Amino acid sequence: MTEAEVRPNAARPLIVVSSRTGNTMILAHAICDALPGAELVRATALPEDLSTFNPVLLGFWCDRGHAPEDMMAAARRLSGKRIGCFATMGGNPEDESAKRWMKTTAEELVGLGDNNELAETFLCRGRIDPEVFERMTAMLGGSVSAEREARRQASETHPDRIDLARGAEIFRGVFGANW
Ligand SMILES: Cc1cc2nc3c(=O)[nH]c(=O)nc-3n(C[C@H](O)[C@H](O)[C@H](O)COP(=O)(O)O)c2cc1C
Repeated sequence: MTEAEVRPNAARPLIVVSSRTGNTMILAHAICDALPGAELVRATALPEDLSTFNPVLLGFWCDRGHAPEDMMAAARRLSGKRIGCFATMGGNPEDESAKRWMKTTAEELVGLGDNNELAETFLCRGRIDPEVFERMTAMLGGSVSAEREARRQASETHPDRIDLARGAEIFRGVFGANW
């Protein structure tokens, strides 16, 4: 029996994902698996009727220091929701600047709609797509600094199993069913 059959009128979690190269989608699936009854949709395919969903989790990637456009468009449609935000980025999520980015971007997204409340955030590394890395390198003059190379290598294996487990655990703790 599905969650919807057991509790037909209960609001259930909606996970809204923007993912260009797949990293955030992997994390979104892990979080979805941890929340009974949750539905996962792309930011570009948000359901017309959102009234049966709460909380809403927004999963996105760091796009030149911003939330991607499709995620901002989805966030504008939310009202009266408890919201969780998770994201992946090529940089180090432990850097103060990355933590600040996550906090301000999540607050900005939550504020785009009406009367929403930010409940929790989670940020981890995400592998930088080799094609994207090459294109960026060309734009930067063709050579790769030691710092950029170190950043690329550090992100290469992410999101890894620990990222997925942590993301799932954090949102299960905040939004998970309690039985
Ligand atoms: C166009 C583009 C811009 C990016 N800008 C940043 C950035 O400003 N900072 C950063 O840490 N990572 C940046 N990245 C890396 C991605 O945020 C990272 O690889 C992320 O995990 C991609 O998620 P996805 O696979 O779900 O699309 C960028 C990647 C792309 C493709």
